[in-house]
Amino acid sequence: MVEIKHDNILSLARMRDSAFKGGGLDRIEAQHQRGKLTARERIDLLLDEGSFEEIDILKVGRGDLGSTSFPGDGVITGHGKINGREVFVFSQDFTVMGGSLGEAHSQKICKVMDLASRVGSPLIGLNDSGGARIQEGVDALAAYGEIFHRNVHASGVVPQISCMMGPCAGGAVYSPSITDFVFMVERTSYMFVTGPNVVKTVIHKEISAEELGGASAHSEKSGVAHFVYPNDILCLRGVRQLINYLPSNNKQKAPFLDLNDPPERTDPTLDYLVPPNPNQSYDMNVLIYSILDGAEFLEVHSNFARNIICGFGRLGGQTIGLVANQPAVLAGVLDNNASFKAARFVRFCDAFNIPLICLVDVPGFMPGPEQEHGGIIRHGAKLLYAFTEATVPRITVIVRKAYGGAYLVMNSKHIHCDINYAWPTAEIAVLGPRGASEIVYRKEIDSAADPEAFLNEKMEQYRKHYVNPFVAAKRGYIDDVIFPRDTRHRLIRTLQFLESKIGPRPDRKHGNIPL
Ligand code: HXC
Repeated sequence: MVEIKHDNILSLARMRDSAFKGGGLDRIEAQHQRGKLTARERIDLLLDEGSFEEIDILKVGRGDLGSTSFPGDGVITGHGKINGREVFVFSQDFTVMGGSLGEAHSQKICKVMDLASRVGSPLIGLNDSGGARIQEGVDALAAYGEIFHRNVHASGVVPQISCMMGPCAGGAVYSPSITDFVFMVERTSYMFVTGPNVVKTVIHKEISAEELGGASAHSEKSGVAHFVYPNDILCLRGVRQLINYLPSNNKQKAPFLDLNDPPERTDPTLDYLVPPNPNQSYDMNVLIYSILDGAEFLEVHSNFARNIICGFGRLGGQTIGLVANQPAVLAGVLDNNASFKAARFVRFCDAFNIPLICLVDVPGFMPGPEQEHGGIIRHGAKLLYAFTEATVPRITVIVRKAYGGAYLVMNSKHIHCDINYAWPTAEIAVLGPRGASEIVYRKEIDSAADPEAFLNEKMEQYRKHYVNPFVAAKRGYIDDVIFPRDTRHRLIRTLQFLESKIGPRPDRKHGNIPL
């Protein structure tokens, strides 16, 4: 009896050892040659040292329909800690059949997804996969369906983060695209539904993998990737940084972190941030970095729709989600991409109890056929919908321009933002002075002796009467006009009293956001 037990201990050691070798030393070497880490090396870097507990290391495919006999079936799964907080993780092993996904591989991922949802911890997927395992046929497709199902049902329950760390195709991109945040690594990760070869066959176009689905394509053009890093190590560090801002699940608040930055700190230079000329731009980042604790800000989608800034920071130790127009890019106008980008960010924050701060300097929606035909009505409506349905604490500061529909959409009082402030430099009106005067005085301008002088006079009158924050403040649409220098302090005090906010939720299955 004792003998048998001893044999099993030896067998276990052998099986584990074999699992550790993945697809073999040659393929591990090839992975390193490509500038990529192995699936296990990645887990070690992602998690707190020594905290990883593996699950299903011995699981193999059924042995029929082309499934593998590699222990672990090409994916490493388990849980560990990031800065002391539990997360669940899967890491695909490209050295085993290109990290392709078959039945056993999928079952392993599904098991950690189920556990993550059940215990309320984030799920992090390290993707390096050629998609559905061709040899497993329809079983591989079924296996992806099980993952998609879980991605959707875990959405808004636990944060889901996807790192793209190799060439990923088919199901290996659709699952990540359902998750909350997609990270990519420059020059080693690609995402496409169909690769360059299929593109060539079907539409006779030659295109490189990098051009079609590299990190820059997805972080600058498609908006699929939220974060891009130059290598695996920095990418994994980036995930740790993001996790630090987030609660573990939708029932919790984000962890409090005191960065020793006094809440009452003022910044007199902010009084001079907005230039006297309303057509002159400035960098909204100056305000963002000035008000946040320790000047720490994690920008999301930093290369996409740069006319709006979204990201996480802290105010008085509390995580906040920040949405700000960027007057230094396209004058901060709202266009299709900016609306989509901000809407998705707002919904994430609302799902995970992260208060929203909105800094406004927006001249309006981008006019023209390109935007209209591209769906600015649909996309703008997404942002309007997202802010309006959000029940987390919502605070707005109107820094300069807030015109027309864009004023309303950017978390205005009228869509039930909790508290909104304006700087004395705010311009709140239906249209800018030129547009408004040209419409209202069209006939008079045409018949004036000096049309330009007449227009200028009317614009000046309009500016004086309408383009300021005081009209809105007198109506109570603005809760206070504040000194720019005091912005940080006012925001922190407001967040404190809003902490116990209970937002009303209508009794319905779900709303129908204009997707
Ligand atoms: C089985 C696969 C595989 C797959 C790669 N391999 N993809 N095995 N099923 N889907 C294997 C290769 O045969 C090879 O095995 C090893 O992985 C490495 O692949 P290479 O081609 O040598 O590597 P590379 O040149 O880097 O190219 C990687 C790649 C390419 C871009 C991922 O392999 C590729 O295009 N694969 C197919 C992608 C695809 O069309 N997948 C199906 C998507 S459909 P050896 O033994 O030689 O090392 C899908 C449906 C889901 O996923 C539903 C979606 C909604």
